[in-house]
Amino acid sequence: MKGTFFIETYGCQMNVSDSELVTSILINAGWKPAESIDDADLLLFNTCSVRQHAEDRVLGRIANEKSRKQNKPNLKIGVLGCMAQRMGKRLREIESVVDYVVGVDQYHLLPSMLEEETPLNVSFDYTQIYPGIPPAHSNKTNAFITIMRGCNNYCTYCIVPYVRGRERSVSMDNILNEAKKCVEQGLREITLLGQNVNSYEYSNILFPELLNELCKIEGLYRLRFITSHPKDLSDQLIEMMARQPKICNHIHLPLQSGDNSVLLAMNRKYTIEHYINLIDKLRNAIPDIAITTDLIAGFPGENETCFANTLTVLQNIRFDYAFCFKYSERSGTMAAEYINQIPESVRLKRLQTMIDLQRDITLQKFRDQIGNTVEVYVENFSRKSSQQVSGKTRDYKIAVLPGSKSDIGTLKSATVKDATSGTLICG
Ligand code: SAH
Ligand code: SF4
Ligand code: F3S
Repeated sequence: MKGTFFIETYGCQMNVSDSELVTSILINAGWKPAESIDDADLLLFNTCSVRQHAEDRVLGRIANEKSRKQNKPNLKIGVLGCMAQRMGKRLREIESVVDYVVGVDQYHLLPSMLEEETPLNVSFDYTQIYPGIPPAHSNKTNAFITIMRGCNNYCTYCIVPYVRGRERSVSMDNILNEAKKCVEQGLREITLLGQNVNSYEYSNILFPELLNELCKIEGLYRLRFITSHPKDLSDQLIEMMARQPKICNHIHLPLQSGDNSVLLAMNRKYTIEHYINLIDKLRNAIPDIAITTDLIAGFPGENETCFANTLTVLQNIRFDYAFCFKYSERSGTMAAEYINQIPESVRLKRLQTMIDLQRDITLQKFRDQIGNTVEVYVENFSRKSSQQVSGKTRDYKIAVLPGSKSDIGTLKSATVKDATSGTLICG
């Protein structure tokens, strides 16, 4: 046995999935998962670079581990993920506690790096999809399956294309085999992951066809996917979502801004009219679909009129939920060079306005469900009561309902009695 390891994961689901991949790679090489962080011989941070705040948080966290290392001199600390990729050897210069820096395309080499004490490998490999390494799924009910890696879109604010490289897709056979294995193990809800799943393509197989094949897996309850880019969400995909009952009635469709001049400066490659047209098509085809989104407040050049346009769009579309972010300059991206940056105080104020508006809409959306019968895939005990369990509805809302341990992993039907802006309370 090589020793024990513990991974702390930051960032998006792609990183959660990558941590499961790294877990599998280390276990195959003779390492053992540690019971807790205190028992680990190797501590890995899987990091995110999407906003400055995400990086600062991790840097603070790593700096905090100095005392642990003083008490345990053999402890090794490694940094993985997007920040490792972005900062490379600078990370070890800034933080002396960091022993290893491993980029997103080099995880297969991690065991040999540890063995040979190689401190750094952040080489890009734009073809890397880690074939033949089944991830060690960390959840007992839900599986994340990465179907593509990288991004070609170069939204002007975004660091992802620079750290994750170009788009490449995993073969349909690999995805189907992994999905079947998950379902056999009782993970009956599968979420397909990619920065832009709509551009999945492998030997002429496109995303709707992949979904269709996955739906044929016996015993699979639910299929989800993130993230969809509005510029290439196809009619075929909408039709497939409407036709296949296993595909959940939820889509995450990042809008970013409700103003055409801002969308153009962001290089999003769609207009607000196109986006609203998509929403209409989705709602016509799937009347009970839940739509969630991402929004950025204070992008360079966003004036009061632009911002007001975004608020109007929020009021008109009425998203079920919106992840709202304050624009953060990422060095190396186009938008960081724009001269019309918005003062921090304005960004913050707009962010708060956006959050407040959306909170009311979200609450209303949740309350609209009172009296409805919903299907809940039970995933956990409720944190609040031992006679309650929690899970998600098909339209991606957290629900609590009466139940016990034996309900975990099953579908339960329940009536919504009450709702907050984050939870459906079922009887
Ligand atoms: N590939 C996905 C997710 C990208 S990151 C997509 O394209 O939708 C998730 C979200 O973070 C983005 O949708 C965007 O809203 C936000 N984001 C990305 N870069 C940002 C930046 N520099 N500042 C603030 N928010 C950002
Ligand atoms: Fe970033 Fe845009 Fe790619 Fe999403 S589509 S990862 S926001 S560049
Ligand atoms: Fe995800 Fe953050 Fe990287 S959002 S792709 S972990 S920069």
